[in-house]
Amino acid sequence: MSKTWWKESVVYQIYPRSFNDSNGDGIGDLRGIIEKLDYLKLLGVDVVWLSPVYKSPNDDNGYDISDYHDIMDEFGTLADWEELLAEMHRRDIKLIMDLVINHTSDEHPWFIESRTSKDNPYRDYYLWREGRADREPNNWASIFGGSAWEYDAATGEYYLHLFSKKQPDLNWENPTVRQELYDMMRWWLDKGIDGFRMDAINLISKTPGLPDASVTRDARYQFASEHVFNGPRLLEFLSEMKREVLSHYDVFTVGETSLVTTGHAIDLTHEETGGLNMLHQFEHTELNRDLSSFSPRWSRRPWDLPELKEVMTRWQKDLENKGWNTHFLGNHDLPRAVSNFGDDDHYWFESATQLATFLLTLQGTPYIYQGEEIGMTNVHFASIEDYRDIETLNMYREFVEDKGLDPEAVMTMIHAKSRDNARTPMQWDTGPHAGFTTGTPWMKVNPNYTKINVEHALADSASVFHYYRRLIQLRKANPVLVYGTYDLILDAHEQIYAFTRTLEDERLLVILNFTPETPRFELPEHIHFSDKELLISNYKVDPVERINLLTLRPFEARVYRLFP
Ligand code: NOJ
Repeated sequence: MSKTWWKESVVYQIYPRSFNDSNGDGIGDLRGIIEKLDYLKLLGVDVVWLSPVYKSPNDDNGYDISDYHDIMDEFGTLADWEELLAEMHRRDIKLIMDLVINHTSDEHPWFIESRTSKDNPYRDYYLWREGRADREPNNWASIFGGSAWEYDAATGEYYLHLFSKKQPDLNWENPTVRQELYDMMRWWLDKGIDGFRMDAINLISKTPGLPDASVTRDARYQFASEHVFNGPRLLEFLSEMKREVLSHYDVFTVGETSLVTTGHAIDLTHEETGGLNMLHQFEHTELNRDLSSFSPRWSRRPWDLPELKEVMTRWQKDLENKGWNTHFLGNHDLPRAVSNFGDDDHYWFESATQLATFLLTLQGTPYIYQGEEIGMTNVHFASIEDYRDIETLNMYREFVEDKGLDPEAVMTMIHAKSRDNARTPMQWDTGPHAGFTTGTPWMKVNPNYTKINVEHALADSASVFHYYRRLIQLRKANPVLVYGTYDLILDAHEQIYAFTRTLEDERLLVILNFTPETPRFELPEHIHFSDKELLISNYKVDPVERINLLTLRPFEARVYRLFP
């Protein structure tokens, strides 16, 4: 397996709107990020992934871009961005930009031109179709609810938008569109950035002819997964992009790819023939979905630990020596890691640190989402008025007004799964609005900021933050944690997730209790070792009586070095 800097890096995702506001307008900004770079350096991360900062009408918080070559006013200027990049590089932190190229904003000049007439040169930049007898061109549903088509009276046709109607999909079949996007990418790469996170990238190739989706649910519009994800020209487009653009720079790409198998991932991240370096797949974050529900996205079902092990192990083993994994437990679209996978109530510290151990000891590049390093949790706003996310607001309207569901039940779904759980402002200190802004924040701060905040975390050497910091150092000091082979042990154990990482004659053992119980268990006999050294743990560990017999306390995590 080849060795590269991006396999050895730890990435930190910043959602700029909620990170740090430097000018009191209630919205995080680029200068706010510059103020906190020393904090990131102290944490020890190598790369920052910056969610979109381009000009945008913010229908979807910047994932709807109206100018790829400029910064949105609320976040600052291009000069601020240049300074941010320079300040990061000065601290040896790399920057990857979010690249949203499946769609633009409907306020992008290309789309404004495109909608003016059927023969406008920009018409074919997007996917315009005639309707069918007063109906949309096909039955596809938008990922954000409703139809994926919007009628435009100016020309009497519909355009496709897999997300909101202010996010029209680009037509990747048009080679001019691809060249425009490649030029734009070069423009950023020439400024010295270190790579891209590619938004919704496996949606760029659709089934030719855009046929109806098969009817799988009782609804007017159907999720057209089979026609929009991993389409026939995906690999071809990405390989072209790599050949023409990316291969000329020392950068890396990470694709956001829902609904991929390990087979897709191997094709897409293959060193020679793939188009991407790594991707974010979501199987582990979707384990708690009830697929028989009318809306799996908002449903919940209990899952057990062997299911999680099966998913993670399949990704670890299938990609071994063939592709490259990423690891993340949260991002700006997901609930908070400690609330989703741990116990943010009774075992907040224990489960936040146990999950950190899990995140940072697998093979693949780890991604920490802002606030996770201090154990930020989901928020439970009582009123829908306090939510800001377009997906959440659309869903509330659809479920309560159209479907007639009980508003309280809908709020319970939102508390568990809304994207706004991850988007409440970063909790810096115990001051007003958690030190995020001196003004009125664009979204309320989680009321638990008086307990969970950076100020407290930094002052307490036993905090979640310092545990993350130590883990990152451990990963850096032990290449076995980056390149070592992963092997699961105790496969069927319901409480303990244990695995080894092996590189030549070095071997580490990771054991994680995923429950509030206190399981006692024996390591299997094939794990031979004469002695072991504890490298990190989230509890104080007394020397154990027998080398192979262990008892783990609630959400306990340990990493050992094993001596042959
Ligand atoms: C995925 C992004 O992560 C999400 O926030 C966004 O809404 C969609 N793609 C559309 O760009």
